[in-house]
Amino acid sequence: MVEVIAPINIALLKYWGKSDIMNIEPVTDSISLTLSSEHLHSRTIISLIDDDRHIFRLNGKSHPLTARMKDVIINCQLRAMQKGTFNRSKHLCIESSNNFPTAAGLASSASGFASMAFGLSNLYQLDCDVASLARRGSGSACRSIFGGIVYWKAPASESERYSPCVRQLFLHTHWPDLRILICVSSSQKKSVPSSVAMRRTTVTSPLFQEARAKVVKERVPQFIHAFQCRDFELLAELTMRESNELHAVCLDSWPPVIYLDATSFAIMEFVHTLNNNAGRNMLAYTFDAGPNAFILTQANDAAVVLTLLSECFGSPSHGLEDANGLEIKRERIETPE
Ligand code: DP6
Repeated sequence: MVEVIAPINIALLKYWGKSDIMNIEPVTDSISLTLSSEHLHSRTIISLIDDDRHIFRLNGKSHPLTARMKDVIINCQLRAMQKGTFNRSKHLCIESSNNFPTAAGLASSASGFASMAFGLSNLYQLDCDVASLARRGSGSACRSIFGGIVYWKAPASESERYSPCVRQLFLHTHWPDLRILICVSSSQKKSVPSSVAMRRTTVTSPLFQEARAKVVKERVPQFIHAFQCRDFELLAELTMRESNELHAVCLDSWPPVIYLDATSFAIMEFVHTLNNNAGRNMLAYTFDAGPNAFILTQANDAAVVLTLLSECFGSPSHGLEDANGLEIKRERIETPE
């Protein structure tokens, strides 16, 4: 039996679109922050059982295995057969739970598949690239295998396909003053799963097809520079532009994919107003495939930002059960390497 806890990661430079759907190769590079697993995480327990089929439970409820899960399992079992660690008479019992809303744009598939891939590779004693394994479940999961600031590079040529492509850019200790506030305004499951939405965007959005690759190429060195110099002013602008662009290509897709809601837009306005009044970028927002905001700020500004956010949107809470109003979770980046 193995038990794994894996944290979520928040993309600042967003992964959106696959060049190879089967192997989950991204169209463009992405850069993310892996958060501390103390807070938002998936816990996965995997055991070998004498049943005649695999069992999967998510948050206490039984579910059929998804095609992606089967792909990860088969991949592991083939490797285990080669290694001689596969026991044909046993099946798997996979019990996963998230301590935050599942499929609400809070990166639950990233932490879920990262914990599952790591767990299976341990159970079968595999000596493999766990990030590539996790990626087969959900693209963004490969970044949760590493702590700190993580770079997932899209293959630039045929020869780069299938080779390890995720790496840590900076340790979690690199920027100790960086803070993330997670504002949960809705715990509803997203209306369109990201994989469906991505496909729609790549096929139907001229904005994506004509501009996205070029913009990302320019932004990669800018993001790295912002992290290297701990330049929050620059990081904040890049992060917000990226988030806006993700949702612009979603809206440009046909039929449009709408992830943001009225609270998301109110938070965006709130952030720009605060930054304008301060005469500098005190904070930045980023949204994944959902309406919930991730707010970046620095230690010196965190208390003021938190107070103002709570005054404008609701009281901070550390529970996630009641999602009426805005709930704010505080995060520090402190995942071990
Ligand atoms: C907006 O990794 O969930 O969060 O590979 O289809 O499972 P699949 O997609 P997923 O997409 C994440 C999209 C994003 C941006 C990001 O995390 O980079």
